[in-house]
Amino acid sequence: MQAENLTAPVPLKIKTITAPADALGRALADLRISVIDRCNFRCPYCMPEDQYAHDHAFLRARERLSFDEIERLARVFVSLGVRKLRITGGEPLLRRGLPELVSRLARIEGMEDMALTTNGALLPRFALALREAGLHRITLSLDSLDPEIYRRMAGGRGEVEQVLTAVAAAERAGFDALKINCVVLRGVNEESVLPLAERFRGTKHVLRFIEYMDVGTLNGWRADRVVPGAELRTRIHARWPLMPLSRHDSAETATRWRYVDGAGEIGFVDSVSAPFCGDCTRARLSADGKLYTCLFARSGHDLRAPLRGGESDDALRALIAGIWSLRGDRYSERRAELRAAGVLEHVEMYKVGG
Ligand code: GTP
Ligand code: 5AD
Ligand code: SF4
Ligand code: SF4
Repeated sequence: MQAENLTAPVPLKIKTITAPADALGRALADLRISVIDRCNFRCPYCMPEDQYAHDHAFLRARERLSFDEIERLARVFVSLGVRKLRITGGEPLLRRGLPELVSRLARIEGMEDMALTTNGALLPRFALALREAGLHRITLSLDSLDPEIYRRMAGGRGEVEQVLTAVAAAERAGFDALKINCVVLRGVNEESVLPLAERFRGTKHVLRFIEYMDVGTLNGWRADRVVPGAELRTRIHARWPLMPLSRHDSAETATRWRYVDGAGEIGFVDSVSAPFCGDCTRARLSADGKLYTCLFARSGHDLRAPLRGGESDDALRALIAGIWSLRGDRYSERRAELRAAGVLEHVEMYKVGG
């Protein structure tokens, strides 16, 4: 044998401290951080104006996690294996100084992807600052190109032109492939599907149609209001043939499709007709520091008290890992059974940002 083999350096095994898998074997890999529970829209599927209590007490500033606190928790989550961060609200751009938070999160070693979900109304003002702060990706909500239908889907608070301006502002700032989310409600914006597909075909942006979900307690969800993604694919395919693409990673919410004629990609989040709980690696942190292990959880685990009580990073790590290891949520797969059993109380979407 050659001598150098005996002296060849042994690769150092770097110790990574990852959270244990949950009770169903799912890793903790994504953290969705809600930075504010307020929104400038009143989408009927999320915060319907007529259901929503007008004296509702939103979180006060001192109740919300500060940027220092969010950054510290994000570091702890990343040390436990989180690789993707998504900033949500409510409407996250209502949180003052958001680019500052983004720049702090962008510096966390080990974080690989950071995205923001916004309704777009305030995006033209912030797009460049967010890009310069290190944000990787933006997802915009756009439920119709028809001004009347759009207004109805935004609860009378937004204009479709604002979102189109936001798309242009994001492009100018250097966000070249946006995701555009459209929640489809039977009888409300179904007819907006083809025009939206047409508008974003041939661009780098990925339009995604989302099935209407029974999130929160206010949206009066009915199964007959859900338009199954398969039905939309059939309609789109009849006009512009589609071919399936493989998922980027198994935890992705959307299935990916491409136009056969080369006009780009389109996606479908079929969370009602084809739930994806089996691969759900997402944790959610509310603006007041509660950890939710499912979008449909009734309650969260308070991390703010231990954080403000002076617990060490190690103690926070152990707490989060313990919560995650007990996680057995799979609401979307059990929807029918749980609804029939009267399990109807879920955290509001605007508190955990979807
Ligand atoms: P990327 O693929 O990283 O861009 O993120 P994403 O698809 O998770 O982001 P986005 O916030 O755009 O979510 C798309 C839709 O899927 C929204 O309507 C979300 O509410 C919904 N969604 C996201 N995560 C979950 C989840 O864990 N469960 C369910 N049922 N729906 C989810
Ligand atoms: N069903 C499906 N998607 C919803 N969203 C908000 N409420 C619902 C619902 N009831 C979407 C928003 C946004 C994303 C974060 O969640 O439109 O695109
Ligand atoms: Fe609409 Fe998003 Fe605001 Fe909810 S948080 S009302 S989905 S814009
Ligand atoms: Fe994950 Fe809960 Fe959504 Fe299932 S319903 S994919 S467990 S957040």
